[in-house]
Amino acid sequence: MKSETSRDVLISVAQAIFNLCRLTLQLLKIIMPFCYPCGKMFMRSERLNGERRACSVMFDQIGVVLASTKRFGTTGIFRLRGSVLLKCSCRKEELKTEPAFESSLGTGTVTSSRMANVVRRIRIVQIRGFARVLTVIGRSKLGARLVARARDIRAVRQLLEWLLAYYGTFPSIEAASASAARYIPASHDHPKQMSLHANFAEVTRESDYPVLFFLSPIASELRSVFDLGGSVGNLFFQLDRHLHFSRELVWTVHDLSFKREAMLEFARRKNEDRLRFSDQLLSASGVDLFIVAGAIHFFEPNLADLLKRLERLPKHVIVNRSPFSDMEDIITVHDGGLWVNPCKLHSVSRLCSAMGELGYELVASWPVHERRTRVPLFPDCDGIYRGFYFRHSRHV
Ligand SMILES: C[S@@+](CC[C@H](N)C(=O)[O-])C[C@H]1O[C@@H](n2cnc3c(N)ncnc32)[C@H](O)[C@@H]1O
Repeated sequence: MKSETSRDVLISVAQAIFNLCRLTLQLLKIIMPFCYPCGKMFMRSERLNGERRACSVMFDQIGVVLASTKRFGTTGIFRLRGSVLLKCSCRKEELKTEPAFESSLGTGTVTSSRMANVVRRIRIVQIRGFARVLTVIGRSKLGARLVARARDIRAVRQLLEWLLAYYGTFPSIEAASASAARYIPASHDHPKQMSLHANFAEVTRESDYPVLFFLSPIASELRSVFDLGGSVGNLFFQLDRHLHFSRELVWTVHDLSFKREAMLEFARRKNEDRLRFSDQLLSASGVDLFIVAGAIHFFEPNLADLLKRLERLPKHVIVNRSPFSDMEDIITVHDGGLWVNPCKLHSVSRLCSAMGELGYELVASWPVHERRTRVPLFPDCDGIYRGFYFRHSRHV
């Protein structure tokens, strides 16, 4: 009788412990997606003792990652921040963290638990909704003053930043990127971006006209152009339609290295042999024209600091279709719906003064009315898209 009672007690205690563990796990499932980026799968394949084996690493529901190899059935626990592997503990020696492991990591398809996904989606709706409300409030003079006052109070700012998450402001592009990747993993790598840019090759946008205007007197003299953040090279095709560049022109498209093939294939399909691809900024040294459209805001250093790295400065520099700040530099995230791109609204006055110090004369600047970036916490920043044409005085 006595032993039966103590057995019942033991069973109840075990059940209570089991329920407590389950509850903790459920709670972790809800909380962890906010602590770790979820939804990305990291994959690697490696060769061990001459044999190739596959190893896939993915997030489990509570934010740590489980790795397994088909051959060894190994499971290890990995910790990641953004796409950086911080720690790895595995039973198998072969899977221990080593520099080669990090460098062989690549992003793959999105996998995360249904629960984590639902929570993440709700959070994204909340973030976008709150950002919208704050933006609307900031449009009135009184509202803008209120938001500016609120952001100066530390505790209120912290609360606002939590509610805004990646719509907040950040000390660096890297920090903005890490924050955004927690919610939406896709960025410049989203496949839709390439087709979107390819379509832009066929149309002349309103903001292209000032560029056509300033390039038309010099177009026939151009022999080398460097197109920073040029994607598939759409700008070349759009401008060439009107300006009929020389057959001797070499147009170098600079972009992230994974876009190389898509860009070259696009040029091949269009039967165009004047285009090249480079992921090296230094290839811009001494070009006739350095052009950056819709992309300078994706670079953290300001334009003059980028140009300073070149052995020889380009003669003409055109910046177009980027949001700028009429106050200080502001780093935030541009929400494209399916993707998020960390960006920097460079200060207009800093841009112009730094270019002036480098010997450039500002020939013209223009507003771009196609879009506008509003930073909810900084309603006092106009976030207007702009264009600039600089010419180096030494070359004149
Ligand atoms: C909005 S698109 C602009 C495309 C084109 N210049 C236009 O005006 O239509 C921005 C481009 O900048 C590229 N980009 C972003 N960050 C970059 C980086 N750090 N280095 C090189 N390219 C980058 C993106 O991959 C993308 O192709």
